Amino acid sequence: MSKQFPQAVRAMLCGFMFMFAAAVQAESVNNAAKLPNVTILATGGTIAGTGATSTTTVGYTAATVGVQSLIAAVPEIAKVANVTGEQVFQIASENIGDAQWLQLAKRVNVLLAQPNVDGIVITHGTDTLEETAYFLHLVVKSKKPVVLVGSMRPSTALSADGPINLYNAVRLAGTPEAAGRGVLVAMNDQIHSARDVTKANTTTTDTFRTSELGVIGYIQGGKPFFYRNVVRNHTLDTEFDVTKLDGLPQVDVAYAYANVGDVAVNALVAAGARGLVHAGVGNGSLPARTKPALVKARKDGVVVVRASRVGQGIVARNGEANDDALDFVVADTLSPQKARILLMLALTKTTSTREIQRMFYTY
Ligand code: SIN
Repeated sequence: MSKQFPQAVRAMLCGFMFMFAAAVQAESVNNAAKLPNVTILATGGTIAGTGATSTTTVGYTAATVGVQSLIAAVPEIAKVANVTGEQVFQIASENIGDAQWLQLAKRVNVLLAQPNVDGIVITHGTDTLEETAYFLHLVVKSKKPVVLVGSMRPSTALSADGPINLYNAVRLAGTPEAAGRGVLVAMNDQIHSARDVTKANTTTTDTFRTSELGVIGYIQGGKPFFYRNVVRNHTLDTEFDVTKLDGLPQVDVAYAYANVGDVAVNALVAAGARGLVHAGVGNGSLPARTKPALVKARKDGVVVVRASRVGQGIVARNGEANDDALDFVVADTLSPQKARILLMLALTKTTSTREIQRMFYTY
């Protein structure tokens, strides 16, 4: 008998091999079809940063690595989502301004309107991440998950936190349970609401905290677990619309401290502020040397919001100041930097302080 396979057996084996390859290919196409479609919008920050050595965790350069390299550095992502990447801009987040917020929000809304996009991850510098997150929380018009993520260590560092944070963010953005919860921040295995999270440490990897109100969930083993709902209105349930906006009203923050005077308030009003957030001490108290400048600003048409630099708690209306008489607004629990964002958006709709106060109790 010939050591060669007879022609017919060879043909049959080839047929089996062909069918097996086709089945494997069909299976992987099926698996890809089952995975969520997540778009990663990259904006820069330390997550895209590089340092001179693996121990350089300060003094590195933010915003140098492009989105495709960020994705390629975490091949595990391809097993849990069909990911596409877009470089929206490439900056350190201290340089984010109104123009970038509007650009990003418009792009997010366009993408989320597409049926083939299930969720969005935005990579971002951590310094102002909470501000961009809250802006989007108020203007994104979709229930689909939007997750902001950053890192505290550059991509070149020992134990860089970027890859695991990015992986977790993609898992979160691809999870149907994340829908309808507003914009989320995924850092250090925790899930925060954009409204309440703040950066609380200059350099450590557990810097993002929602101290008293609490995280809304965790990500463990790549799986999100939720424990709380976001109560204040957001996304589809706000009155804000960026579609036709090509700029935002000027709103500034004047910081209070012992011995503070009126220089900052007067300078900001002279520079054209239409709204001012007073980052007061304690319960948003008005120092005697600052109050006349704020009262004058209000008389001149500037909307004044009393916030607190303390970081936790409600600024009581008519508590440390007679807001009704002064025609001031209080920030509720929003930090001064987030009160500024809500006031900017509010001023795109109205200058009525009664209406603006309603918004501060709604969002
Ligand atoms: C930045 O905010 O762009 C730099 C700092 C960081 O991402 O941690």
